[in-house]
Amino acid sequence: MDSIAVHGLPSCLSDARRLAARLAVPIREIDLHRFPDDELRVTTKPAARTTIIYATLDRPNDKLVSILLACDAFRRDGAERIVLVAPYLCYMRQDAAFHAGEAISQAVIGRLLSTVADRVVTVNAHLHRTTDIGMVFPRIDADNLTALPAIAEFLLQSSLDPDIVVVGPDQESGPWVADLADRLKRNYAVGTKHRHSDQSVAIDFAKPAMFAGRPVLLLDDIVSSGGTLIACAGALREGGARSIDAVITHALFEAKLTDKFLKAGIHSIRSTNSISHPTNAVLLDAVIANALRAEVAHAALGRNS
Ligand code: R5P
Repeated sequence: MDSIAVHGLPSCLSDARRLAARLAVPIREIDLHRFPDDELRVTTKPAARTTIIYATLDRPNDKLVSILLACDAFRRDGAERIVLVAPYLCYMRQDAAFHAGEAISQAVIGRLLSTVADRVVTVNAHLHRTTDIGMVFPRIDADNLTALPAIAEFLLQSSLDPDIVVVGPDQESGPWVADLADRLKRNYAVGTKHRHSDQSVAIDFAKPAMFAGRPVLLLDDIVSSGGTLIACAGALREGGARSIDAVITHALFEAKLTDKFLKAGIHSIRSTNSISHPTNAVLLDAVIANALRAEVAHAALGRNS
C-alpha cells in the first residue's frame, strides 16, 4: 500500500494531477458512473495510508455524495487518514437561519464531512458570522487558506496603474480588500450592500467622489449571480470611475454572464482556479501544495497524526 496518494474527482482531475506532481506523490482518478435514475456508483483505485481527495465543491450535490461513497471505499481499503482538498467549499454562505424554517447548511455540511474526513483544506471559505473554519469542523483538522498572496503576486506581475483603487462591495470584504491593498500599496474603499433577493442587490459608497477619474480593481470572494459585481460597478460608474476590472477567488457564475459584466462596465474578471472557469488566471497550486507538505513528510515516516 502506498503511504500517500492524491485521488481526484473527474471534474477536477487536471488540478489534482498538478497537485500530485508538485508533491511528487501518485495520482489516481475516482471513477463515477451515473445510473438511469441519477444514483451514482463510485469506484476508487487502491487507497493509500494517507489518501488525499481533490474535489472542489462547486455545483456540489453529486460531488458530496461521490465523496461520501469514495471515503467508504477508501476506509474499507485501509486508508488511515483522509484529507479532503476542496478549494471551493460549498454551503458556507448559509451560516444562520435567516428566515423561519431554514436549515443552517454550513453546520450540516461541516458535520457531514467530519464523519468521513480527518482534515479539510479549503481556500477563502465564505466565513462571515463564523469567524474560524474550526467552528465548521470542530472535531477534525481544518485549514482555510488565503488566495490573497497568489492574487497579489499575479497582479504585481501585470502593469498595475499607480492610481488604482482596490474596492470591495460590502463590509464583509473589508479585511480582504485592506490586505490586498496593503500588498499592492494602493488605496482602498468598501461599499455597503443591501441584498433584496438572490439577483437584486444595491450598493453605495460613503465617498463616491473618490473614484472620479480613477481606475478601480474590484475584489470579491465569490461571484455567483453576478448581482453584487454589477451593482458595485453601477455605483462606481456613478462616482466617475475611469475603468473597472475585477479579481475574485471563486468563479461560480455561468460564463455567459460575461456580456452582462461588460455592459455593466467591468472590462475584465480574473479568478483563481479554485473552480475551473474561463476566467481562471491565478493558480492556487503552490498555496495548496505547501499546506500538504507536512502530510507527505508524516506519511513517509509512517505517522498519520
Ligand atoms: C457575499 O457575501 C459574497 O461575498 C459575494 O459578494 C456574493 O456571494 C456574490 O454573489 P452574487 O454574485 O450572487 O451577487
